[in-house]
Amino acid sequence: MEGRSALSEIDGAVHVPSVEAAGDARERDIERILIGEQEIQDKLRDLGEQITRDYEGRELLLIGVLKGAFVLMADLSRHVRLPLEVDFMAVASYGAATKTSGVVRILKDLDHDLEGRDVLLIEDIVDSGLTLNYLLKNLRGRRPASLEVCALLKKTGIQRVHLDVKYVGFEIPPDFVVGYGLDFAERFRNLPYVGLLKPEAYADI
Ligand code: IMP
Ligand code: MG
Repeated sequence: MEGRSALSEIDGAVHVPSVEAAGDARERDIERILIGEQEIQDKLRDLGEQITRDYEGRELLLIGVLKGAFVLMADLSRHVRLPLEVDFMAVASYGAATKTSGVVRILKDLDHDLEGRDVLLIEDIVDSGLTLNYLLKNLRGRRPASLEVCALLKKTGIQRVHLDVKYVGFEIPPDFVVGYGLDFAERFRNLPYVGLLKPEAYADI
């Protein structure tokens, strides 16, 4: 358009229909929000401050467990006011899709050597705890200086092994949840909150 740059159009001049007005197709299968977006962000700010204090004067290595932890890693790491590095591992558990057997296959291993490092493992959720138990044993064998866990969610009272999870965002009932990195059949990871699926959504997919 004459006399107007493309940028000035982007800069507030172009009307974009809001997500609510258009309807959010991600949300069609959601029955209820369990933990809202703001509640999560407030919690991550607190956890970030706690981690910053606990590791003062040290350099952290954050290890995210893919795929579920990718959102938490991005948001939490920006609240940790320390020099740090990030790395990722991808794991898959043998057995049925909604149950863990405790035997974990490493699909993508770390790029970093852990020896002598202060390592904080970032997990989306602790359910039976079997995946985490396996990972911690594996990582301890690589002789880090310290190894702790931060999980956004921990299901109450159903862990099949004893685990020390130092930083927990929220304790939740033992229901299946999606959003904020967590999937059902690979979907819903991009919801900014944690929610419960409509029962029919399990049948649909
Ligand atoms: P665990 O070994 O039983 O503790 O579960 C490990 C993995 O199962 C988690 O890291 C998640 O990827 C997945 N998982 C467990 N519970 C849920 C859930 O409620 N929603 C989505 N994924 C889950
Ligand atoms: Mg999953």
